[in-house]
Amino acid sequence: MKKIKFSEELLLSSIVQGFWRLDSWNFSKEDLASFMNKCIELDVTTFDTAEIYAGGACESMMGEAFSFDKSIRNKVEIVSKTGISIQNINGKNFTYYDTTYKRVKESCHASLKRLNTDYIDLYLIHREDPCIDFYETARALIDLKKEGLIIEAGVSNFDPYKFNALNNASENILVTNQIELSPVCFEHFKSGMIDVLTEKKIHPMIWSPLAGGNIFTSDEERYKKAFDKIKEIADRYNEKPEAIIYAWIMHHPVAALAISGSSNIERLGIAVHALDIKIKHSEWYEIYSASGEMVIR
Ligand SMILES: NC(=O)c1ccc[n+]([C@@H]2O[C@H](COP(=O)([O-])OP(=O)(O)OC[C@H]3O[C@@H](n4cnc5c(N)ncnc54)[C@H](OP(=O)(O)O)[C@@H]3O)[C@@H](O)[C@H]2O)c1
Repeated sequence: MKKIKFSEELLLSSIVQGFWRLDSWNFSKEDLASFMNKCIELDVTTFDTAEIYAGGACESMMGEAFSFDKSIRNKVEIVSKTGISIQNINGKNFTYYDTTYKRVKESCHASLKRLNTDYIDLYLIHREDPCIDFYETARALIDLKKEGLIIEAGVSNFDPYKFNALNNASENILVTNQIELSPVCFEHFKSGMIDVLTEKKIHPMIWSPLAGGNIFTSDEERYKKAFDKIKEIADRYNEKPEAIIYAWIMHHPVAALAISGSSNIERLGIAVHALDIKIKHSEWYEIYSASGEMVIR
């Protein structure tokens, strides 16, 4: 599989395995190590996680698998995220954003410990923080890089204003924006974020490419309309609908990576296979407009 160059020090696989749902997979550490090795056999070497996934449990489970099979860590690139904090306030859990210098540094150290590793390959600010001090957050990311605790830094779910502000404050340190995109989710087309990334030649990482599985099951009209069109195009190619969705994502000139969230290695194989499918330019627009949310004028 073609690797995508993020910097001189960081290459990621075009298809990434996501571990957000890991705590619901009922995997032992042996199962997880075996799953990770199967990902590596498919050349899916980039693994996505976050401190917030299952309150740190997903990172811990991954760390246990890395300890169980010590050969895995050096074959993979770990992406993790910071910036969402859960605190017990007056007996109740309260979730808020915290991208302050101190918290980003502390959070990174805690993730490294849970993941049983010395460094994180790509470290992201997870969500747009309305109270972010761009210069302070930038300083934390720059210092973590200097200390060798992270190889590269990026963001997730940022709009163009916040992306440019943090990028400027950090002297263009950001190598990605991890964003949601699917045939039923167009937020980042609407905000202009995709245009900014295309212009800057920055590769986005796409989360929930299959709308978290809802594209197959939702009764919502726009999901059904999108799925019917995807199925129609899939039949033209004699391929599975999910393969056509990945091919649709990969067709865009922004040159995205797609994060598969499936626990099923065969489904990950379909995502990898989809890299060889080239849909027509007209078909990209058929899918873009199928849900009815985006209109071609
Ligand atoms: N940065 C962020 O804010 C953010 C937010 C959300 C997620 N993420 C990252 O992105 C990754 C992917 O997100 P996602 O898990 O929502 O991705 P997804 O690939 O769109 O959805 C995965 C879900 O769809 C199901 N699925 C896959 N293929 C299917 C099929 N053919 N039929 C029916 N169900 C199917 C999977 O079930 P099975 O396991 O049974 O296959 C799984 O529950 C996450 O793991 C996480 O790493 C990042």
